[in-house]
Amino acid sequence: MTGDLILGLETSCDETAAALVTPGGEIRSSVVASQAALHARYGGVVPELASRDHVRRVVPLTQRVLADAGARLADLDGIAYTQGPGLAGALLVGASVACALGFALGKPAIGVHHMEGHLLSPLLADPKPEFPFVALLVSGGHTLLARVEGVGRYEILGSTLDDAAGEAFDKTAKLLGLGYPGGPQLAALAERGRADVFRFPRPLTERPGLDFSFSGLKTAVVVALRERTLDEQTCADAARGFEEAVVDTLVLKCRRAIDATGVRTLVIAGGVGANRRLRARMLAMGEQAGVRVVYPRAEYCTDNGAMIALLGHLRLSAGQQDDLAIGARARWPMTELVPPGG
Ligand code: KG4
Ligand code: ZN
Repeated sequence: MTGDLILGLETSCDETAAALVTPGGEIRSSVVASQAALHARYGGVVPELASRDHVRRVVPLTQRVLADAGARLADLDGIAYTQGPGLAGALLVGASVACALGFALGKPAIGVHHMEGHLLSPLLADPKPEFPFVALLVSGGHTLLARVEGVGRYEILGSTLDDAAGEAFDKTAKLLGLGYPGGPQLAALAERGRADVFRFPRPLTERPGLDFSFSGLKTAVVVALRERTLDEQTCADAARGFEEAVVDTLVLKCRRAIDATGVRTLVIAGGVGANRRLRARMLAMGEQAGVRVVYPRAEYCTDNGAMIALLGHLRLSAGQQDDLAIGARARWPMTELVPPGG
């Protein structure tokens, strides 16, 4: 097996991930090591523990993706790593390993934006969506709608004024006594809940615009549960009511974005994109609106190395060149992104 592979390393938060991707966006191997168990007892990510775990795992994980793909280091065309945003110490681990590998192999290392990785991750789907598309990015740190014209060419149509959708899932899950990370656990609980017991608000849907606000929803759950016994069925009903409210809100705003832009392809990216109810409801809306709805596979919605490798490839092949200075940017607004070479 020879050449042409891009290694993607992701260490921005609480997952160490590595993947090998071909220039065509074919995933040769991908491994994600979650730190969920490490942080669970603290109810959230402890940055120092995260960095130490990345240090332990990143090289063995890289060896593993190479072995899984039957590839050698000499087969790498370049190394992409998450340069930000994220936890500074955690980012430095992936950045250091990527730049050191690039130096040793005489191959380019390129630092990429985590959210841009999510935004373009639907290009890992088969068949891939074509530009332009409207993208809904719903992760633990971001919620935004963008019109995507090409790599680095994003028009932000709306974003959250407070909590991100994933953050709202995580905080509400905590309220319901669920562990960390809360999103998937809340979604599982909601499966046993009844849809008509709690009706929570659909924030900012009554007025025009494409911005989101999710912090009030968590408060609405607190208020609704105040004088109730928190037995399992009540928690499941509340989880269901919460999930319905978030899904309704996201679907309505996506429909609005489609109508406003006239773009006929909608892609969903980011961890909350793994939510089954959201996926089903978006597909139904797309069918009704005559719009193509594209999702990455659920495992490429949450953090992974493949989206980083793909973005690295897209930028490298468009001529972007980074030096081997190890870069970590804890804060990095998406509005600062530019097209490769632009
Ligand atoms: O994209 P991601 O893996 O990491 C960030 O860049 O933030 O997103 C993680 C977020 C977490 O808030 C997690 O609770 C949420 O995505 N999430 C879900 C589901 N799976 C992950 N939320 C709702 N339903 C899910 N099935
Ligand atoms: Zn992410």
